Amino acid sequence: MADVQQSEYYSGDIARQLLAHYDAHARTLPWRTPPGAGFANPYHVWLSEIMLQQTTVAAVGSYFQKFTHIWPSFAALAAAADADVMAAWAGLGYYARARNLLKCARVVVTEHGGRLPETEAELLKLPGVGPYTAAAIAAIVFGQRAVVVDANVERVVSRLFAISTPLPQSKPQIRAATDSITPDRRAGDFAQAMMDLGAGMCSVRAPSCLVCPVAFACEGMRLGNPEVYPAKTPKAAKPQRTGSVYWIQRGNHVWLIRRADKGLLAGMRALPDDQWTARLDGHSTPPAPAAWRRLPVQVSHVFTHFSLLLDIAVTAWPAGAADPGEGEWWPLKSLDKAGLPTVFRKATEAAMNAGERICACKIVVRR
Ligand code: ADE
Repeated sequence: MADVQQSEYYSGDIARQLLAHYDAHARTLPWRTPPGAGFANPYHVWLSEIMLQQTTVAAVGSYFQKFTHIWPSFAALAAAADADVMAAWAGLGYYARARNLLKCARVVVTEHGGRLPETEAELLKLPGVGPYTAAAIAAIVFGQRAVVVDANVERVVSRLFAISTPLPQSKPQIRAATDSITPDRRAGDFAQAMMDLGAGMCSVRAPSCLVCPVAFACEGMRLGNPEVYPAKTPKAAKPQRTGSVYWIQRGNHVWLIRRADKGLLAGMRALPDDQWTARLDGHSTPPAPAAWRRLPVQVSHVFTHFSLLLDIAVTAWPAGAADPGEGEWWPLKSLDKAGLPTVFRKATEAAMNAGERICACKIVVRR
């Protein structure tokens, strides 16, 4: 790792050049204020930072607009029904974030008078707020000097300092290096400038060093191979699980259940399944005795810790029969409003697209 203090420039030069570039080229994002504005909406920044954990800016945009439209403040969100928030979050993934989002809004309202606490240490105590998010909020909202390190910053800093230790072991080194170039003033703009650099010029495979505002200080570029940073320890392959979901149709309705309060996709609306988990394949026993037909299509989905290949079994439920268990008949024409997590949305799309074949087993899908 190159020692920035021994180089021909001062560590402050990196911040100066980067901030000048940010002043001219900052991305316009719905939760951001323009560079140098010095004020950012705390609710917007907090909401966006939670949504952006493990999710791209492009994917977050429409969710951010929807949430701020329906729930424009901490107070409004804190008063929302859990099920409405979970349904609005559907498709964004990592659903623990949505549960913590709601918990956090309620803590902010009941314990902090509807305002975010202002120190990194206090922010860290909030549900769903880890070291990255606490630092980002402290810097962006409250203008404090905080060391903000997300995956983009990790890449930029690994290259700037040619850190050859692989991730995740290099995290403390990356944090120290980021600390060494974080300015006392405009730490929020600096953090977002680093994120923009990582999301744009300092891309994973083909960094655009010729136009990079901090190339003059980049040890990775000087060595001629910036793209090899950050080094990574190879990940173990994800286990492949198999399972089934069950499409039970009665007229123009499909049977949906609510998942258990604990575990994968907890509390979300879903199709019944055969209890596959990250550790176990499904047991292949349908949720109720019926004339089941397996569709000739499968759905695949990749979770954080495993990949899943799903069979879809369908049946027509007789009009007069007792319900298949605990759940609700949901109108097919408003399935998009059910707030189904992506894996179940894929399965419902496959089932609906197989409408013709389903007809052959006496299920009529009318749209
Ligand atoms: N990723 C996380 N927070 C961000 C922000 N404020 N701007 C751009 N990308 C981000």
